[in-house]
This record gives sequence, structure tokens and C-alpha cells, in this order.
Amino acid sequence: MTTEIRTAVFPVAGRGTRFLPATKASPKEMLPIVDKPLIQYAAEEALAAGARKLVFITGSSKRAIEDHFDTDRELEEALEEQGKEDLLKQLKDIVPSWASCIYIRQPSPLGLGHAVWCAKPVVGNEPFFVHLADDLIDAATPCLKQMADVYAERGGSVLGVETVPRTETDKYGIVATEEREGRVSRIKQIVEKPRPQNAPSTLAVVGRYVLSPTIFEKLERTGRGAGGEIQLTDAIADLLAEEPVYAYEFEGKRYDCGSKLGYLQATVEFGLKHESLGEQFREYLIGLTSNVAQR
Ligand code: G1P
Repeated sequence: MTTEIRTAVFPVAGRGTRFLPATKASPKEMLPIVDKPLIQYAAEEALAAGARKLVFITGSSKRAIEDHFDTDRELEEALEEQGKEDLLKQLKDIVPSWASCIYIRQPSPLGLGHAVWCAKPVVGNEPFFVHLADDLIDAATPCLKQMADVYAERGGSVLGVETVPRTETDKYGIVATEEREGRVSRIKQIVEKPRPQNAPSTLAVVGRYVLSPTIFEKLERTGRGAGGEIQLTDAIADLLAEEPVYAYEFEGKRYDCGSKLGYLQATVEFGLKHESLGEQFREYLIGLTSNVAQR
């Protein structure tokens, strides 16, 4: 089997109820961190890891995502006329010409496992990435690239993981592993959103996966699990009885942009790092925090 991973799947059908009313008519994946929507950070990470085919599993109210990755001739011409070369380049670079975007509509919100299963006809019999745009990871080497390197060495499937507080195990897929070798360990057990007292560990799956195509056979037979949804975690639990599935403790910092606090934290930290804005923003924050301290 090829070690090259050419396809990335982005399940983007969720309604983003935690961000209502902002997400009533606009997808949560279009929420910006400073000046780029979450879904663009996601696409850039996958492209940097070698993906050529970007597959978006969409649902209702998600047309803005298609528009974002499509060419907007009118806007490009206007920027050209105004001599705004920098902005024009940024727009043209959103998706390079060698990459293709494919949109599949998930007919009803049956869960993450079902969303991934919807990508089967375009993934084929190859390994592929799954990327959840809510989990924004800032890393020197993009997280999916780190995981593609682990896959190239070991094969199987690879899940991005990090340790979370025990009180939060019921928000994640939680894994139990064999002994760690560096940042990698083989997964023995995986459970979706266990209560803290039942969790087999505090090692949580974040939204990054390299999956073997065997997962589609498993998804085919996966019934409804936690929350009444078809869970990717349950299909992975079946997969690991047959093929190795590794947990990879990635290098980098994750922001849970599915929560308002995580979203604000990412906004502040990406703001501080921003090329043209960072310095000014830093000064503003210093002023603000000293005012708060004096109160
Ligand atoms: C999904 C997965 C879960 C994983 C999480 C990572 O849950 O089902 O296993 O740990 O993403 O963000 P969701 O956040 O969609 O409820």
C-alpha cells in the first residue's frame, strides 16, 4: 500500500450550536482567527502534509465554505484595479492550482463516523487524513505532517492525542495504550466520551487522524453509539482488533475553538503572533492588563 496520503477529509456538517447566534446563517468553520477562517487553517495544514484532494463533508448552511475555496473573479479584478497586490496574492493562494476541492453533502446529521463514511467514494482504497477544524493546532511542523511521518514509518492508522484533565474525559474519545516509544504508542482500547470515573486514561483524541481505508468496512457496520450518533471512535475500536492503530502525542499547542474560551485564547495568541498587527496588539494588551491589575 502507498505511504503517500493524498486525501484529506474535513467533516464540516455540524451546526455549531455553541456559537449561536453567530453560526445561525454562517458555518462555525468560517469563524475567523484574526483574518483567516478556521477551515482555511485546516486546509493549509492538510496541504502542508501532502494532501492534494480536499474533501469537505457539508450539511445545511455551509455554502460559504464552497464560496471561500472558489475563485471570485469580480473581487480579484477589483483588487487588481486598486493595485492591492498583496491581498490578491493571499486570495489566489487559498487553494493552490494543483489541489482540488470536493464537496459531499451529508444527507442527515448522523454523527462523525457517518460523515467520514460519506467520503468513501472519493477516498478509495488509500490511507487518508481526517481533520476537525474546531481543533486548531499551532505547531512548527504542522500536526498532520508530523502524523504523516509516523504513518510512513509504521503504517496502520495514527490518531493525534493529548493529555486532558480527568474532569474533561467526557468531551473526547479516550485511549488506553501500550508502552510509549517517544511520542508514539499502540492503542489497546478506545472509548467515546467516557465519564471521568470510567475513563481508561486521560489521553484524549484531538481532531487529527490518519486512517487506513479498512475503516470504511468498519463504519459500514457501526451502529449508533454515544449520543445516539454513528461514532468514528466505535469504528476505530473495531479497526484496532485487526490492524495497528497508534496514538501520537503531537508537538504543538491545541486550541479548542469549538468552545468560546478556546476560541478567544486562539484569537489572542494568533493576534500576538500576527505579522503586521502583533506589536500593536501586544502594547494594547499590556496596557489593558495593567489597568485591570490596578482596579
Ligand atoms: C469528536 C470525536 C471525539 C474527539 C473529538 C476531538 O467529538 O467524536 O472522539 O475526541 O472530536 O475534538 P466532538 O468534539 O465532535 O463531540
